[in-house]
Amino acid sequence: MKVLISAKLNPDGVAVLRGYKGIEVEEIAPVNGDELVAKLEGCAALIVRSESKVTADILEQTRGLRVIGRAGTGYDNIDAKAAAAKGIAVLIAPGGNTVTTAEHTLGLMFAMARHIPQANEKLHKGEFDRKLVGFELTGKTLGVLGLGNIGAVVADRALGLKMKVIGYDPVISQERAREIGVDLLPLDEVIKRADILTLHTPVLPETRHLVGKRAFEICKPGMRLINCARGGLVDEAALLEALNSGKCGGAALDVFEKEPPGADHPLVMHPKVVCTPHLGASTIDAQEKVGEIICRNVGNFLTGKDYVGRVN
Ligand code: NAD
Ligand code: MLT
Repeated sequence: MKVLISAKLNPDGVAVLRGYKGIEVEEIAPVNGDELVAKLEGCAALIVRSESKVTADILEQTRGLRVIGRAGTGYDNIDAKAAAAKGIAVLIAPGGNTVTTAEHTLGLMFAMARHIPQANEKLHKGEFDRKLVGFELTGKTLGVLGLGNIGAVVADRALGLKMKVIGYDPVISQERAREIGVDLLPLDEVIKRADILTLHTPVLPETRHLVGKRAFEICKPGMRLINCARGGLVDEAALLEALNSGKCGGAALDVFEKEPPGADHPLVMHPKVVCTPHLGASTIDAQEKVGEIICRNVGNFLTGKDYVGRVN
């Protein structure tokens, strides 16, 4: 059984996969479109990160594919419904990058609160600017939209910083919210009360532009936004307008509606925006974990053993 890895995966994970009897592995730099279709000829499994887009059109042209593994959490680059219709399983690597992505969120929150990237850039240019005044996080209200794996860890770390944590998630119970120390409220209440709003939901039809014009109308003046989940959750035009009017006091973005967003993207260039190029999951630790989880998952699936994280 041949497994195509169209991504850069941690070698320890790949070694796990190569260890299965009867499994052959081909690793390539991420490809898309016709190139991906051609490479999938004769493959029983495909493993990707976010670069390769596994569309319905691509799935339509493949034969013999049984499973797609996503070395991460968000699988919006895979048409999981179209895969299900063809009897192809889609597996993710749950939990593997949770702590890493939560830590990146916290890092961006500190960077935004204290203008650390701007200060660093100025100092590199020889400018010793002590007018870059920030704000304390202690006592501020953090609104968490999406209280799954990452949202819960962000909440835990924020409580350690003595922030007040409120949140919205249509799935989790009041009991679970109490367990993680979060005051579970309706969506609008969270948006109205948050000093800083952080997003940790998948991008779905119902979460697309979850933060848009309306959110900026009802939020506190100067509310800060963090997005380490997916670009599609934020209406970028509405965010730009809110930053320019002052309704939004600043934004920290790891993800964009279109990636890469382009060097002249108005949000990337904006003085009130701190941004990183989709690095949320990019630590050695997380890549070791997701690589191993997804390779074991795919190997187990193909050899009839137990696996986790099937999403379709
Ligand atoms: P998860 O599945 O554990 O949690 C997602 C939570 O969102 C769930 O609790 C779910 O109930 C909730 N949710 C669903 N619809 C909602 C809605 N309308 N409003 C509020 N909450 C809603 O996933 P996770 O591991 O916590 O990851 C969250 C997202 O972060 C992923 O979907 C992925 O897109 C993104 N992510 C990004 C990076 C990165 O590199 N920046 C890394 C990992 C994950
Ligand atoms: C994810 O959803 O897990 C992330 O986007 C991680 C990644 O692929 O880098």
